Amino acid sequence: MYFLLLLSNFATTYKDSKDFVGNFYICTLVMATIGIFDSGVGGLSVFREIRKRLPGENYIYFSDSAHCPYGERTEEFIINRCREITEFLLGKGADIIVVACNTATAAAIKTLREEYPVQFIGMEPAIKPAAQMTKTGVVGVLATAGTLKSDKYLRHKEKYASDIIIAEHVGEGFVELVEKGITSGPEAVNTVRHSLEPLIKAGADTIVLGCTHYPFLAEAIQEAGSEISNEKALQLIDPAPAIAKRLMEVMDAEGIPHNPENGSVTLHTSGNKDILQRLYDSLI
Ligand code: DGL
Repeated sequence: MYFLLLLSNFATTYKDSKDFVGNFYICTLVMATIGIFDSGVGGLSVFREIRKRLPGENYIYFSDSAHCPYGERTEEFIINRCREITEFLLGKGADIIVVACNTATAAAIKTLREEYPVQFIGMEPAIKPAAQMTKTGVVGVLATAGTLKSDKYLRHKEKYASDIIIAEHVGEGFVELVEKGITSGPEAVNTVRHSLEPLIKAGADTIVLGCTHYPFLAEAIQEAGSEISNEKALQLIDPAPAIAKRLMEVMDAEGIPHNPENGSVTLHTSGNKDILQRLYDSLI
């Protein structure tokens, strides 16, 4: 009886508070590690939201910048990269993996779920919230070519956009810009203007950022938007907060413990370490 009571007290402590017993248990026995990856540095925009909700976890982030962009690659290429990265993250002790890349989610998450014994959290195109927010009835979607033609995206569109008009455009040059570490200034505004203009001309007041690199360009998108039209600021929808919430739910459902503090962050890249570190420092 005492033992059971102790256990139930312990369970409460361990989930909700930061006292000594809770921390001691978590630090010594059950420190979970969350793996996050993207074709490049874009997934840091997802990591930022995850970290807000779960500040004390252990994180390993992998940026596949040497093979970025994935947007125009074949499905086979992306699946193979995702397998390699998954094996790397599992080798580093990941207990759960966030595919912080819309293009990789669309191409590979089904295969990853079939082949590896961990939970994968993928990106969702944020058409549903955008459809609820638009006043003009026109939602603009910026994403990679791979995402826009994927079954997952097309299914979402069919399900959530029956009452609204969707205007789509590939964010041409966006990923390359962010991979160079350029997120603001005239070059950023000029680059985003080209892809944004057709969406605004079609009447979009709400723009889905359908690639995890694009939130880095949010200010440039607003600036270009105000140059194209004098209407009020665009509503930009970044799915990252919803992904962070989903990660928490899955961790809870799987019994993966939350670590309240003192977690670590390790950054890995197949490309330029300085840009990854700089964007990480400026964002998180
Ligand atoms: N960050 C990526 C996404 O969310 C991909 C960009 C790319 O590699 O083309 O789709």
